[in-house]
Parts: sequence; C-alpha cells; structure tokens
Amino acid sequence: MKTVRVILDKEYTIGTADPRIFGSFVEMLGRGVYGGIYEPGHPEADENGFRKDVMQLVRDLHLSVVRFPGGNFVSNYRWEDGVGPRESRPKRLDMAWMTTETNEFGTGEFIEWCRQSGTSPMMAVNLGTRGPLDAANLVEYCNHEGGTAWSDLRRSHGAEKPYDVKLWCLGNEMDGSWQMGAKTATEYGRTAHEAGKLMKWIDPSVELVVCGSSSRHMQSYGAWESTVLEEAYDIADYLSLHTYYGNADGDTENFLARTMDMDAFISEVVSTCDYVQAKLRKKKKIHLSFDEWNVWFHSSEETNRLMEKTARWGSALPLLQDIYTMEDALVVGEILITLLNHADRVRIACEAQLVNVIGMIMTENGGSAWRQSIYWPFAQASSLAQGGTVYRAVVRAPKHDTKDFTDVPMVELAAVGGKDGGLSLFAVNRDLKEEARISVDLRGFGENALSGATTMHDADLLAVNSAAAPDRVRPFALQGAEIRDGILTATLPAASWNVLTLKETKG
Ligand code: AHR
Repeated sequence: MKTVRVILDKEYTIGTADPRIFGSFVEMLGRGVYGGIYEPGHPEADENGFRKDVMQLVRDLHLSVVRFPGGNFVSNYRWEDGVGPRESRPKRLDMAWMTTETNEFGTGEFIEWCRQSGTSPMMAVNLGTRGPLDAANLVEYCNHEGGTAWSDLRRSHGAEKPYDVKLWCLGNEMDGSWQMGAKTATEYGRTAHEAGKLMKWIDPSVELVVCGSSSRHMQSYGAWESTVLEEAYDIADYLSLHTYYGNADGDTENFLARTMDMDAFISEVVSTCDYVQAKLRKKKKIHLSFDEWNVWFHSSEETNRLMEKTARWGSALPLLQDIYTMEDALVVGEILITLLNHADRVRIACEAQLVNVIGMIMTENGGSAWRQSIYWPFAQASSLAQGGTVYRAVVRAPKHDTKDFTDVPMVELAAVGGKDGGLSLFAVNRDLKEEARISVDLRGFGENALSGATTMHDADLLAVNSAAAPDRVRPFALQGAEIRDGILTATLPAASWNVLTLKETKG
C-alpha cells in the first residue's frame, strides 16, 4: 500500500463546474439514432418512436447538453431533408460513413427527444459543403418567432414556439482531410466568422463554438487555433477540442496515463486563446468546448470492414460499437477529473457518443438496453458535480513513468463542493497493483460526515457489461473510509474509480 496526501483549502478554488461539462453527443451515424434513441416498433417505443428504456438510462445521466447531428456527418448535411412530413424526406448518401441516411429523424425529432430526456440541444451547422446562408436559415427556422419563410415553415411543421437552441457548433473538424469540405485555417476562419455573424444577427442570444484542431496530434495544431481565432474572434465564444484514447497495444499502464496528454492539450489551447486575445487586444476571453472525448479503439477494424466491404451504403449499421471494459471506465473517470480540474476554462464538454456508437449505453434492435462500464463514472460525476465549486486539490502521490509519459501521479483526484455545502471527491488509483491510502485534511471545511463511498474495480480489467450480464461492472460500496479529527482517510483499491461524498454537519 502507498500513501497519498491530499491538500485542500476552501479559499483555493479553480472555478464553478459548468453543468455543460456533462454533455454528450448523438451523431447521425451507425445505430446512434436508429436502433439507439429511436426505434419505432420496439416494444418500449413511445408514440414518437423514442425508446423509453433508453430514455430512462439517459435521464439518469443528468446530461446538460447533447450535440447533434455530427460529427463528420454534419459536413454534408442538408438540414431541410430532416424536417417536415416523413414520407417526403429524401434518402441521401452519407459520404462520412459510407451509408444511406433515410432522414426519418431530424431537427424536430431531436428537439422533442431533448425535451423528454431533460437535456438541451447543442446543434452543429454544415460549414463543409455549405456556408453562412444555410446556417443562418437553420437558426431562423429554429429560433425565430414567426412571420418569415423559415420560421413559418417550422410552425407549419407543428412547432408554434421557437426551439430556442442556444448553443451552436460552426462545423466539425474542418482541418481534417477526411472531412467533407475540409478547409485551410484561413478559409474556415473567414467562413465561420461570416456564418456566425449572420447567426448572431438573427438571434443575438446564441453562443457559438468554432472548430479547433481535430486532435492535439494534427500537424497544423496550434497554428490552426491561432489563425481561426484571428479570423473569427468577434463571433466566437468557445473553441473546440477533440480527443480519443485507445489501448490497441495492450499497454494498460501507458493507457491509464493518457490524461496527462489531455491535461497538456487543454493548457496549450488555453494559452493559444490567450495569445490571440492579447494580440488582438480583446476584452473577451475565449472558453473551451471539449465537445468530443472518449475511449475509442475496440471497434476500429470492424467499422472499417463494414464501411469498405460488406455494407457500403447500408443504413443503421453497427458502426463504432466499442464494448467498454473496466480499464476504459478508469480512463473515462480520469478524463472527467481532468475536465473538472480545468473548470475555469472548459465550459462545455461532450462525451462522444451516447448510444451504441462509442456509447455509454448499448442496445439490441428489438431487445434490451444496458449501461456500459463507462456509463458509471459519468453518471456519478454528472449527478454530483454540476454547478459545484471545484477546489484546487494538491495531490502528493508517488509518481511513475510509462512508455509515453513521465512523472505520472498514482492518483488523480477532483474535489467539488456542493451548492448546499458538502464535498464530493472523485479519485482514480491508476496503479495496477498497489492500493492507495489517501488522507484528506478537511479541517478548513467545517465539520463533515461521510455520506457515501463507492468504488469500481475488478480483478479482470477487461471485464465488460453485456445484455446477458448488464451489471457485471458497476460501482459498489467502498469499505473502511472514515473521518476522524477532520481527516478523511480511505483505501483506494488498485486500478479503481472512487467517489466519496461528504455532508457538512457544521459550517
Ligand atoms: O465521434 C466519431 C467521429 O469522431 C466524429 O464524427 C468526428 O467528429 C470525429 O472524428
């Protein structure tokens, strides 16, 4: 067992955890929508075709925002295809995923699904093969009261009241050669600026996310961000970041250190935003929207095979269906901790994606729905941390090196104060063999009692949930945690995700 000391001070805060850090993403891709959130004819489907079993699992995630409809898909999307009477909606080839899109599900269905699942829409416009006018028209369709062609079209589709979509992404991964209508930084920055200008003229209350690099490993990373911001600073509210981690080579120690990369990525993008702010002498700060993150690697070969050979131009194919393991849940827990510990600048984040497609939830067509391992850390952090104060925790932990990282701390931890007092601690012990004995001095936080302690670990790091065993991997009680003389102590098992909650008994 190794010892880890956590130092917290009530005066030493990072910021408020914006509820929108706990967002997710539904792309018109694979079985994310069809057979995922929407499956008319399923025994659990409601009158809209929404699966009620999936809806309940989604509600329990307390999602603040859900991004839609892409992703790569959006870069050739004609949003008009997905509104109005279903029978007249066209089928289109989707070149992002080499499938056929039926357009049975579109904007109106998504908005209704958001309402029912208690989340807010974060919509993306196509700035790949389309431009400012189509983006502006979509905002007019969604957000203008009425009396104009596009807003009256929405009303004729049965939506009297505007959808009032507040958050918009200006395209998706526009730096990537795989993107339909990919652009140089200057081309994209100009287009984003003009699109954003029209969108804000139509509805000044909207907030806009401009595309950063598709990943930290793009060759144009850094230069892309600064050029785009120089072109589009005046209309931008957020800059996007995307990242996916994998363990294809089975080096779990290295895999569990990957959030060191994410941490550096966020700091670098913050610096780039601040550099452009200084260069342009602007008052406004740009915040970050980490609107795609997850573990993604299990399904890559199968997805390529389906896209290239068997099923080119099929519909609702089982693409990107990663089955998540216990160790993936640890990385997801670490990612959530990393996002919280950057709450001063990361204001939006979307786990990618929600159902079936690299999803927290899996379904069978016509069958059951269940939680993947990664569902749990998200659900726990989302229900406890939204809107809380994130403290700057100093973690004195033993460090180790891995193939790609040096000085990797044994324990990652975030400490979040609740609005009505109390504290939640989220901690991953990433050591594969040793327990971590943590002690947290809480004397600056008044008197507290332990109100909950859970852990998630498994002797088999590759254990997964399935239709047959939906609860194989899930949190359970952590024994032995206690507070004595203002000091919290707990033993975190090797390779574990842990949540400790404290209730203030005296301020
Ligand atoms: O989330 C899957 C894909 O990953 C998205 O469509 C794209 O934006 C990213 O490359």
